[in-house]
Amino acid sequence: MSQAPQPDTRAVTFLDLTARKRAGQKIVVLTCYDALFARLLDELIDVLLVGDSVNQVLAGQDTTLSATLDQMIYHAASVRRGSRRALVVVDMPFLTYQISVTDAVRNAGRILQESGAHGVKIEGGRHLAPTIEAIVRTGIPVMGHLGLTPQSINTLGGYRVQGREEAVAKALIEDARAVEAAGAQALVLELVPTALAQRISAALTIPTIGIGAGPECDGQVLVLHDMLGLNEGFTPKFLKHYAHLADTVREAAGRYASEVRAGIYPGKDHSFE
Ligand code: KIV
Repeated sequence: MSQAPQPDTRAVTFLDLTARKRAGQKIVVLTCYDALFARLLDELIDVLLVGDSVNQVLAGQDTTLSATLDQMIYHAASVRRGSRRALVVVDMPFLTYQISVTDAVRNAGRILQESGAHGVKIEGGRHLAPTIEAIVRTGIPVMGHLGLTPQSINTLGGYRVQGREEAVAKALIEDARAVEAAGAQALVLELVPTALAQRISAALTIPTIGIGAGPECDGQVLVLHDMLGLNEGFTPKFLKHYAHLADTVREAAGRYASEVRAGIYPGKDHSFE
């Protein structure tokens, strides 16, 4: 008698990500900021990224820059409470790893120690190699992040594709090699042309995770609230809406409001004797 295939309930590790790249299996990543969504996503998604995008998506800020370490630890701990299988990676916020290597190791350690997350993500290339090395040496896995790096939005001058010019593309490839050589175990590529993402992915043994970086990356990441259609004003070319939950929320809230105003809710079924 043949049995239906069982879902893989074994916890995902960073080593699994590299193995998936080698086997040609795509890695699936979504941002996640809370326990409720973590419970829904845990069996479906390989990596839950507690992105500092939370500062924009949930806190309504214009950029990620004002996210704090305590805020990231709070969200990461919530995600860990809601997940058992997925790998949980947490963005180190602006100024928690750029000032000194000692600070970076201490702050990365706090994230793992206080939230139970499995690794940290930091933005930047060659100049951060000593920082990545020190964090990894401490036993903390690192995911790199190159291309459009939102914490540098003020020097990049806006959310636009990076690496269209050959000189910039070559510099990004060098950065990617340096991040890998420093010990990072995966690399996010944000807003880079497909051909460049393919060159970087081919040059590395660690997996690349693309957002706005085309189909040749070893995995893909999207911001959960964007792909669910909850963040209505945000419609970049790379984003695909897999649901239109803003409409659903408005429709449900509108019906609730009408029923309360008309004295329909709560009826007998939702009241106690
Ligand atoms: O903060 C974030 O959500 C991210 C992803 C967009 C990669 O860094």
